[in-house]
Amino acid sequence: MTLKVPGPAEEWLRERADVLVLGRILDPESYRDAIAGADALLPQLRDRIDEPALEAAGPGLKVVSNYAVGLDNVDVGACTRRGIYVGHTPDVLTDATADLAMTLILSAARRVTEADREMRSGRYSGWEPFYMLGQELTGATLGLVGFGRIGQAVARRAGLGFGMRILAFDPAGVRVPEGLQVTECRLEELLQESDFVSCHVPLTPETRHLIDAHALRLMQPTAILVNTSRGPVVDEPALVEALRQETIAGAGLDVYEHEPEMAPGLADCPTAVLLPHLGSATFKTRAAMGQLAARNILEVLDGRPPVAWANPELVSPTQ
Ligand code: DGY
Repeated sequence: MTLKVPGPAEEWLRERADVLVLGRILDPESYRDAIAGADALLPQLRDRIDEPALEAAGPGLKVVSNYAVGLDNVDVGACTRRGIYVGHTPDVLTDATADLAMTLILSAARRVTEADREMRSGRYSGWEPFYMLGQELTGATLGLVGFGRIGQAVARRAGLGFGMRILAFDPAGVRVPEGLQVTECRLEELLQESDFVSCHVPLTPETRHLIDAHALRLMQPTAILVNTSRGPVVDEPALVEALRQETIAGAGLDVYEHEPEMAPGLADCPTAVLLPHLGSATFKTRAAMGQLAARNILEVLDGRPPVAWANPELVSPTQ
């Protein structure tokens, strides 16, 4: 287990196994040394679970239970080839992440962090009709890039709660749940028509730089880009350029291409709202993620597949 997590996960695991908590993110070589001989791993999204790590863990490794829904830090194919289950934490973080996407949409639209800086710096000198005008959500168009669990949860909030018109693009196709009004469209169309574009795709070779300089050029000069998925989905230097040139109006980012670093110049863009990867950061959700990650391991130790797993082609750990 790389780091302690909120909730009872560690306790549950200790009832059934010897648990080693590394206590910090190790460099790849030290991580490989630390996990030698493990039956199960509970890594964080900053741990790289690749061939060398699996090799170092040794033949006893049965399950990698990632403390995240995203699996871009895990070589799932390599795990599958070795008969190792890959668990992760879908569903339990959907609402928290969708809430944070809405937070970024609202903050960028109403210039909340800019305004906060005005107050703290003492620049606010009294109410004025043209002072710090922003944009309204009601009646505006929200384009969702990715329409899985989190994209759909954002659609519910934005459509039913804020009266936004919702467009959606998903490389895997869009299936609209009952009760929601969502129009599926091509990415280009979505970028051209949306007042807000919010990214909710997993990071894969296909989605890396899905929002590149060309995509940013298609957006309206009044549009706002939000990303709570994975940093490399957006070409960050291209985004900095778009913000500097004001070819888009603002951005709300929770994730970065080379986290925890930001692209040069991003911190100086006043219309960017910048958060440190907080999508799932509530006590309730982080505890639920821990419980699910622990259950994924306990199931496998008991000879069953994990509760939530990414390589269903493996049928049973004992086969
Ligand atoms: C995830 O789970 O993939 C998030 O980025 C962290 O909660």
